[in-house]
Formats: sequence, structure tokens, C-alpha cells
Amino acid sequence: MERKTKRIGIIGAGVSGLAACKHALDKGFEPVVFEADDTIGGVWAHTLESTRLQAPTTAFRFSDMAWPAAASVAETERYPGHGEVMEYLRSYACKFDLLRRIRFSSQVLGVEYLGASEEEMAEWEHWSGNGEAFGVGKDGVWRLTVKDLNIGSIQVFLVDFLIVCIGRHSGSPNIPEFPASSGLELFKGEILHSIDYSYMDNAAEFVKGKKVIIVGSGKSAFDIAAEVAKVNGSTQPCTMIYRTKHWLVHKSSIWGVDLSYFYLNRISQLSVHKPGEGFLHYVLATALSPLRWAVSKVIEAYFKRSIPLEKHGMVPDYSFSFAMSSCLIAMLPEGFYDKVDEGSIVLKKSRRFSFSNDGIILEDRNEHIESDIVILATGFRGDQKLRDIFTANWCKKTVAGSSDAAAPLYRECIHPRIPQLAIVGYSESLTNIYASERMANWVAHFLAGGFKLPSIRCMEESVAEWAKYKDLYNGKYFRRSCISTINIWFNDLLCQDIGCSPKRKKGVIAEWFQPYGPADYAGLY
Ligand SMILES: Cc1cc2nc3c(=O)[nH]c(=O)nc-3n(C[C@H](O)[C@H](O)[C@H](O)COP(=O)(O)OP(=O)(O)OC[C@H]3O[C@@H](n4cnc5c(N)ncnc54)[C@H](O)[C@@H]3O)c2cc1C
Ligand SMILES: NC(=O)c1ccc[n+]([C@@H]2O[C@H](COP(=O)([O-])OP(=O)(O)OC[C@H]3O[C@@H](n4cnc5c(N)ncnc54)[C@H](OP(=O)(O)O)[C@@H]3O)[C@@H](O)[C@H]2O)c1
Repeated sequence: MERKTKRIGIIGAGVSGLAACKHALDKGFEPVVFEADDTIGGVWAHTLESTRLQAPTTAFRFSDMAWPAAASVAETERYPGHGEVMEYLRSYACKFDLLRRIRFSSQVLGVEYLGASEEEMAEWEHWSGNGEAFGVGKDGVWRLTVKDLNIGSIQVFLVDFLIVCIGRHSGSPNIPEFPASSGLELFKGEILHSIDYSYMDNAAEFVKGKKVIIVGSGKSAFDIAAEVAKVNGSTQPCTMIYRTKHWLVHKSSIWGVDLSYFYLNRISQLSVHKPGEGFLHYVLATALSPLRWAVSKVIEAYFKRSIPLEKHGMVPDYSFSFAMSSCLIAMLPEGFYDKVDEGSIVLKKSRRFSFSNDGIILEDRNEHIESDIVILATGFRGDQKLRDIFTANWCKKTVAGSSDAAAPLYRECIHPRIPQLAIVGYSESLTNIYASERMANWVAHFLAGGFKLPSIRCMEESVAEWAKYKDLYNGKYFRRSCISTINIWFNDLLCQDIGCSPKRKKGVIAEWFQPYGPADYAGLY
């Protein structure tokens, strides 16, 4: 195959798009990356002042590039701030000469598949007709309509393969819906989403002296509440309204042992059921599940002792292990509960709320809270964003289920019914850069003809098997496609597909007991 003649399009130059570009270049392709922003980095380019990494630098890195030593040494510096993350991403882009492949300020308005008709595709036994990246040779291409945001012109590009890396925690804010007459339009103050707050240059000035309500209990809500409390103190406390208590913890180790030793090594993976596991794995996972429960209880006890969760009624109703397997763990902003103690932050639980003209009504508490500003830290609609990129209705309908369901992606990146296209960065792991890069590497091998996909029926069976796993381990907290605690199992499958050894460690002890991380996959070109 003449790789230079195959046109590869990538949408997005965040962590996922950069990884996709690097790995496609490694394989001799010359991809073009379309990025709406005027910079790389995606979510990292526009964050709150206080945003830091939530994982050590050994876990949040690309396989082929370690962080500079200075960013990885002392405990406090193991979680670098957003500026350093941007520096790291820029260095990566420079090291692998990615910038020349990126068209900045180029917003992809829509993508459309031109080639086989819907009826013809429905007849296919194999993805794209033959299970190969570029299809059966019936001139199938993706047409991208791209707007140059600097001059407003629209251009059309055709690509032979499209990699969608548009992220799921940016772009499409999740705005709660309300019955008519109690919704946002009633409120006379300011309402904004956490993403708008992140983009503000003068956020501290904006909230200063104002009555602020923050809705949500994810990482954004905690961070924003902490920032507002820092500005206004206890003289003008902010209120955080939450409906679910989550495991936000102050560090990623207990008694000096990193949590990855309990969840991210091969030995710990034996205690969970895995999609497509054989009889032996099934028996082991069943027999070891009490051990997993006990580990979870010990970790919960540790955090309950070291963070005043009980005092503030913030102990989650689900286990720590569930949080790990649902990608729901987050880092508590420094001194958060001190701010609650001093009265700068007021925590209120409420399942339902509505708006009045001067504040919010907590419906199940029958309580009214006055407010000048309401910040909705209510997350994102990654599913909607994914659907919106497609022009054709059949793609919109098939690509993603709902915000509560995982998108049906084979190996978490190929939709069995959408040809010549991969999605990277939709499924998450405890650090997304790790998961995205593994997928980008797998897609690059696929593009280069390293393997063929199995039949559509097999892929759909595999997707269903993975959905069962996600349902089992994430239960009612299952909101996303999260593969965190079985990331080794997942990476093993990717390694088998591309024909490299899944065992990446030196020695049996290390193989079983050392946590796996991005560096274990360095050099897999
Ligand atoms: C504030 C914040 C902090 C986070 N911290 C962590 C953390 O500590 N650890 C962790 O693992 N994860 C974290 N995450 C999750 C984060 O989403 C991932 O780590 C990762 O950065 C996502 O990268 P991505 O490239 O998949 O998506 P994004 O970063 O969202 O990048 C997508 C890119 O695609 C571009 N794009 C989108 N649509 C179009 C279009 N139509 N046309 C052209 N370009 C388009 C966007 O402009 C953007 O640059 C955080 C998320 C947020 C919001
Ligand atoms: N590194 C960092 O410093 C940093 C900073 C910010 C974000 N992040 C990451 O970015 C991602 C997104 O985080 P996020 O906090 O923005 O979003 P999120 O994790 O999706 O959290 C959204 C929150 O909004 C709540 N919510 C949604 N709809 C609601 C409704 N109708 N009424 C009341 N509450 C509602 C949810 O409640 P339920 O829990 O009840 O569903 C949840 O608590 C996460 O992966 C996070 O870890 C990282």
C-alpha cells in the first residue's frame, strides 16, 4: 500500500488527536489534523486557574516521552498544574514534529460518508466490506466540511480514513432540563456552565462579593466551589448543591502504597470478571471477589479517617472499587473541607431543583436559596457531541446511544457499522492519555494493514460482551465507557491484534505485581 497517497484526517488536537497524529506518522502516513482552536491541548488549553493533573506524571504521559525530571520529583509536584501539562503536550508535539500536520482554527462543521449506499452497507459481512481500513475499493471517502474560523471561509476535504478525536469533556455542556415555568429563563441573575467559567480571564473578579451557587458534585463543581470560596471567604459563602456523593480523595495512595497496586496490576485484575474471559478467569474472579470487597473497605476506611467525609455527610453510597471501575475517582481540592468548616462553602444535598427569579428552589427540601450567579458544573454531553459531527441521520442514530450508555465501539474505537472511521478518546481510563494513546497506536497498526477486523457480527458480539462488563462493574453509576480497572486486559487484546507480546514487564514478579502504565508500551511502532 502506498501510504503517502492515503489521506488520513484527524479531528481534534487534544491529547487523543496528538497521539493519533504521532502514531499515523510513525506508520508512514501524512495525516491532516483539523483543530477548531488556535492551539493544541484541547481541555488543557482552557481550564480553571487551579486545575492540576489528577494522576502522577508516570500515569499521565505518552508512552514514548517521559515528563521532564523536575515535574516528577517531589510529592507535591507529582500532580503538575495545567500550565505544565500544556508545556508537556507542546514538547510532545515538537519532539514528534506534529505541528506541521495541524490546521488550526479549522472547525469541522460536519462529516459525511460517500461510497457504498446504506443498503449496500447493510449487506456487508465485514466492516467497510472487507474488514480493512480503506474498504473494498469502491471509492469510499469521508467528506469534511471545514470552516476557517479566522476568515470565515468554508472548504471541503476528502479523506480515505477519518479519526475522530473531539473529546467528551468539552464542547457540549450538559444543561439540566426543567418543566416550563421553573427553568433557567425565570432567573434574573447570571447562569453559566463550568466550561464558560473555565474560559473566563477574570473569574475571580466575576464572582467577587456575589452570592454564588454551584450545581454538581463532580471534579469541576468541587474545584469551582474551592475557587469561589478562596475569593469570597465566609463573608459571602457559596453553596454547592449536589445529588450524588462521590469519592473525591486527597491523594492516590494509602499508607504510602499507591492505589495502582490494588487496581492496576495483573494480580488485582484477577479479582474482576473480564469481557470474554474463559472458565478459569471466571472461577478466579468469583473466588477472589471477597478480597476485592475487603480491599475496597480498607481504602474507604483510610479515606474516611483522613478526610472528614462523615462529619459533612459526604460518604458516598457506593464502594471505592465501583468508583475505580467507573472512572469516578477525583482529587479533592486542597483544604476543601477546611473551607466548609470555616463556612466559606455550604454543602446541600438535593435531588431536584428549579429556578426562581432570584435564586434556586431545592424541591425535595422545600428550601429557597438566593443567588446572583448559578454555575452549572453538570458535566458534558459527549454522546451529543459525537452525534453532531455527522451529517447523515443514519450515522447520528448509530454512533452513540445516550449519555447513560457506552457508545457501541469495538476495541473502544471502531463502530461496527460505520466504515473507514475510528473514534479515539471516547472511552476513558483512570488517565485518559494512557487509554487514548493505546487506541491511537492500535488504529495506526490497523491503517498500515497490520491486521483485519473480524466480521461485523463478531465485533457486535464483542461490543455486547464489553457492555455487560461495564454494566456489572459500574451499576447505576455507569455513565461512560470506562475501562479503568481492566485496562491491562484491554491492552492485552490490542497487543494481540497488532502482533506484539502483551507481557511488557521484565520478570514474573514485575509482570504480576507492578502496576501497568503508559511507559510499558513504549516503542510499539
Ligand atoms: C478541566 C479538566 C481536567 C481534566 N483533568 C484530567 C486529568 O487530570 N487526568 C485525566 O486523565 N483526564 C483529565 N481530564 C479528562 C480529559 O478530557 C482528558 O484527559 C483528555 O485531555 C481528553 O483529550 P481529548 O483529546 O480526547 O479531548 P479534548 O481535550 O476535549 O480535545 C478535543 C479537541 O478537539 C477539538 N474539536 C472538537 N470538535 C471539533 C470540531 N468539530 N472541529 C475541529 N476541532 C474540534 C477541540 O477544540 C479540542 O481541541 C480532564 C478534563 C477536564 C475538562
Ligand atoms: N484535573 C482536574 O483538575 C479536573 C478538573 C475538572 C474536571 N476534570 C475531569 O473532567 C471530567 C468532567 O468533570 P465534571 O465535573 O465537569 O463533570 P462530571 O464528572 O460529569 O460531573 C457532573 C456533575 O453534575 C451533576 N449533574 C448532572 N446533571 C445534573 C442535574 N440535572 N441536576 C443535578 N446535578 C447534575 C452530576 O451528578 P451525579 O453525580 O448525580 O450524576 C455530577 O455530579 C471528569 O473526568 C473530571 O475528572 C478534571
